[in-house]
Amino acid sequence: MILSLTTSYCSTAAGIFTDDFYVTWGAPNNVKLVNDGQVMQLILDNSTASGFASKKTYLFGSIDMQIKLVPGNSAGTVTAYYFSSETSNHDEVDFEFLGNVTGEPYILQTNVFSNGVGGREQRIYLWFDPAADFHMYSVLWNEQHVILSVDGIPIRRFANNEAAGVPYLRMQAMRIFSSLWDGETWATRGGLDKIDWGQAPFIAEYGAYKVDACEGGAGEACAEGKWWNEGTYQSLDETQQGQLSWVQRFFLVYDYCTDSSRYPVPLTECSLP
Ligand SMILES: *[C@@H]1O[C@H](CO)[C@@H](O)[C@H](O)[C@H]1NC(C)=O
Repeated sequence: MILSLTTSYCSTAAGIFTDDFYVTWGAPNNVKLVNDGQVMQLILDNSTASGFASKKTYLFGSIDMQIKLVPGNSAGTVTAYYFSSETSNHDEVDFEFLGNVTGEPYILQTNVFSNGVGGREQRIYLWFDPAADFHMYSVLWNEQHVILSVDGIPIRRFANNEAAGVPYLRMQAMRIFSSLWDGETWATRGGLDKIDWGQAPFIAEYGAYKVDACEGGAGEACAEGKWWNEGTYQSLDETQQGQLSWVQRFFLVYDYCTDSSRYPVPLTECSLP
């Protein structure tokens, strides 16, 4: 399995989990390294949830992570993969995978917080079964935008609209986090489908990853002269625009920008490119 994912996505060497991450939740039994340390497992059972975080924090760059979600009846489980500055006015970028009963689709919920303000949820279905194999979930983050991608296909862009008064994630380094936990009160069909503990343990797996980002830095030093700040990374090209439109047209389940009962006046960025 690792070999096949390596040939499909991995153009560079994978990082080493024990070098870059530490266990935040569920030690010692619910976070496990398998396959000679190439796969990290997060395990949820009725004793504990589990999680890990990066030892370092990053400002701008590119971070790819292969994830294979909880298979079978994953209803009520939430696998969160996110970046947070952990400050009071925090910046955060979230991927949250909401499980489902066997055969029904996962939802990938994303969110972006800038300067402590979130409430920017979008939800999509995926065009594959994310529990059947590893897929790559990526963030490209620079001064112009944050792009969230799945297998290289952009699913969301949060642009720097500071000129229009929208705070942007530009000053605060973020740590990488992941966790697998019980979200049965809200995750699946709004909380209708609960966790079936008879199916435990629930296991999500993390495979090859690559962090090419500015460590712990500040502002300009993490932008100037870095590859992620070069012209081609400052906007989406036509192909990527087309892919993003394809995702939004066929897979979008929910968008805060069109939720008029929640936001009678949409947030500023909703009417900006
Ligand atoms: C689970 O499946 C149901 C039925 O297909 C669907 O309405 C729902 O959006 C799916 N995902 C979640 C996380 O509830």
